[in-house]
Amino acid sequence: MTSMTASRAADLVAALLFVLSLAGLSQHRTSRAGVVYGIAGMALALTATVVVASRSVSAGPVALILLATVIGAAIGLWRARRVEMTQMPELIAVLHSFVGLAAVLVGWNSYLEVEAHGSHGRISPDLVGIHHAEVFIGVFIGAVTFTGSVVAYLKLSARIKSRPLTLPGKNALNLGALALFLVLTVWFTVSPNLPLMVTVTVLALVLGWHLVASIGGGDMPVVVSMLNSYSGWAAAAAGFLLDNNLLIVTGALVGSSGAYLSYIMCQAMNRSFLSVIAGGFGIEAPAGGAGEQGEHREVRAHEAASLLAGARSVVITPGYGMAVAQAQHPVAELTRRLRERGVEVRFGVHPVAGRLPGHMNVLLAEAKVPYDIVLEMDEINDDFADTSVVLVIGANDTVNPSAMDDPASPIAGMPVLRVWEAEQVVVFKRSMASGYAGVQNPLFFRENSSMLFGDAKQSVEEILQALGAGETVGAGVRSAQ
Ligand code: TAP
Repeated sequence: MTSMTASRAADLVAALLFVLSLAGLSQHRTSRAGVVYGIAGMALALTATVVVASRSVSAGPVALILLATVIGAAIGLWRARRVEMTQMPELIAVLHSFVGLAAVLVGWNSYLEVEAHGSHGRISPDLVGIHHAEVFIGVFIGAVTFTGSVVAYLKLSARIKSRPLTLPGKNALNLGALALFLVLTVWFTVSPNLPLMVTVTVLALVLGWHLVASIGGGDMPVVVSMLNSYSGWAAAAAGFLLDNNLLIVTGALVGSSGAYLSYIMCQAMNRSFLSVIAGGFGIEAPAGGAGEQGEHREVRAHEAASLLAGARSVVITPGYGMAVAQAQHPVAELTRRLRERGVEVRFGVHPVAGRLPGHMNVLLAEAKVPYDIVLEMDEINDDFADTSVVLVIGANDTVNPSAMDDPASPIAGMPVLRVWEAEQVVVFKRSMASGYAGVQNPLFFRENSSMLFGDAKQSVEEILQALGAGETVGAGVRSAQ
């Protein structure tokens, strides 16, 4: 077998491993195997690439490739070990920006190489126009992905405000940029030149920045998966330029699975897919949505404990705050204790609770909460009316009634967990601050709601202590402003 045939076979096996990886990751049970398939596929792809490179170039460049691989792997391992679960979305956004930047550099390199040395017979004369179009489109997708991901990183890490940027005529600006790109692509295909390359790069950098800056905090989950999709298409574009089939296949897998995930998330959040990928196209600046203010009531841990001790059924709705507090283990212990007392305990998980898809499910699985009591929003929403107590643990936007009641709210139309329909709601958080979307939550001021202020882990541990001590304190609550 020649080295080229062996490399093609390795590419094929690696592509199959990537498909198996995606299939494995789609289910809890098989996700670990999915990760292993992905690692094996990537290791095989890297080895095959280095082996093929070593046959066609001298030892120096191969040594450089190996050095870059070792440095990259070391940085990747270091970051993966240190990153908190709550920082995963921003890490993913940074990684997407690298893919975008790589696609821009590959495109520029390919353009400059052909300009300087000609195509060396590598590209048949009939296909030179196609090559120019590939360069132009690859640079465009890569640059949009790069700045879009940088803005997503800045928003997700709270380095800039998550509220949407609403420039006058923002939709016309986005459409104008796309139309200009189409015209420039035709021009560049016919007559490639440096000023056009510079123009498309700058245009795409600005467009990527504007597209993501225009999207509000509540829609960021969709943006992250959409940028995941863009990074896949950017990698596929680089694959065409490098004549690397595996990169094309892998990029297409990432691009299409990211697009599908964005579509599912848009459906779950009642958002228009086209509107979100077009930078909030058609969504105007919200007219208000501050929500009602009023008096909230406070409850202490031992009072919440006695409420729970007398409950028939309890639903726990976790959110980002549970992840920040790392409260999943005491929450699992509380679940176990209540179930031992004959209380029916279930979890209601919103599709975008936390900061990444499946965030709450991962934490609950880590704490060994049985899968069969962890329900999706649609499975639990009709049961709240028949629930004695809901514990909202570090969730905010995902339980905000203004999404249903207030058309002016920035999160209007987003489906939420209807926790307020229960007899009693206890909200665990540290203050009256708003959630990720920056919207006040009228739930906190409802008659049947009370606030349990403090770090969620500490509050749940105090409840466990009170339950253990068999404390029976009246479920009275104190009024507070
Ligand atoms: P959020 O609306 O983000 O609210 C979390 C709440 O947790 C905050 O109000 C905060 O209040 C509280 N909190 C923080 N640390 C805490 C601690 N140590 N102890 C107790 N409470 C604590 O949460 P959510 O309901 O899960 O909604 C998720 C939001 O993130 C949505 O807007 C969603 O669109 C967005 N988002 C989601 C994703 C994905 S894919 N899931 C990705 C990006 C963005 P205090 O500060 O007062 O404690």
